[in-house]
Amino acid sequence: MTRTVYVNGEYLPETEAKVSIFDRGFLMADAVYEVTSVLDGKLIDFHGHAVRLARSLTELDMQQPCSESELLEIHRELVKRNNIEEGLVYLQVTRGSDGDRDFVFPPEDVKPTLVLFTQNKPGLADNPAAKKGAKIISIEDIRWGRRDIKTTQLLYPSMGKMMAKAAGCDDAWMVEDGYVTEGTSNNAYFVKNGKIVTRPLSNEILHGITRKAVLRLAAEAQMEIEERLFTIDEAKEADEAFTTSASAFVMPVVEIDGVKLGDGTPGPIAKRLREIYLEESRKTAI
Ligand code: PDD
Repeated sequence: MTRTVYVNGEYLPETEAKVSIFDRGFLMADAVYEVTSVLDGKLIDFHGHAVRLARSLTELDMQQPCSESELLEIHRELVKRNNIEEGLVYLQVTRGSDGDRDFVFPPEDVKPTLVLFTQNKPGLADNPAAKKGAKIISIEDIRWGRRDIKTTQLLYPSMGKMMAKAAGCDDAWMVEDGYVTEGTSNNAYFVKNGKIVTRPLSNEILHGITRKAVLRLAAEAQMEIEERLFTIDEAKEADEAFTTSASAFVMPVVEIDGVKLGDGTPGPIAKRLREIYLEESRKTAI
């Protein structure tokens, strides 16, 4: 089925949607993005994603394409037009096109490009992969230093997923100066003696919207949390581990670099957090 997508003020069939070949998103990855999940036809944590988008744009001196309420309307309209019950809304803002290639940013009157599309994913909440748990490998983190800005520079994370696949695994955690930063498209956690450990926020990792919600819910459920740097060896000796992201919610990790965690099945804390997160998200979805 042909999707209806959104490009710069217009709702179009995906086959008719076009962006200039001079668009800086295409030429220079001069673009930021957000991925918002949809459950029961409603948006999960929309406001959190809108706030992070505004921050990414501000950090890069990029114009805000429209207001938060207009963005909400576009998200809802696409969900409706494409009949999405469970899935994702992808949004991308680029610095636009000045009709040529130039390292210098275009003048103020060049408008940003705004593109949104939906991804239909029936069974996203009841994902069988979450029941099995993910096997991960560790790789070196060679990305740039502003990972707190959600840019579309995703080549290395994409290569990381391919390295994991080649090793017969599902995903990769990245390591810098001996410490785990994050997963290729998620934030990383391990659990030891009931305590959840995750890296504190900084420019080295993306400030996950799911991370924020999950840590709040974990604290409300009286779970112990420690935000500190940790090594891959510590994670390998953990009782359990997991990742968080808008596209996979809470995903248990059952193996790191070939070492099984616990009995090699999803741990109780990861499973419980996934349940609580999905339950709370459905309640507050808009
Ligand atoms: N990725 N870290 C990285 C590097 C990410 O790319 C993501 C999200 C996260 C988790 O952030 P959030 O909880 O806000 O989704 C952490 C999205 C889902 C993607 O690229 O598809």
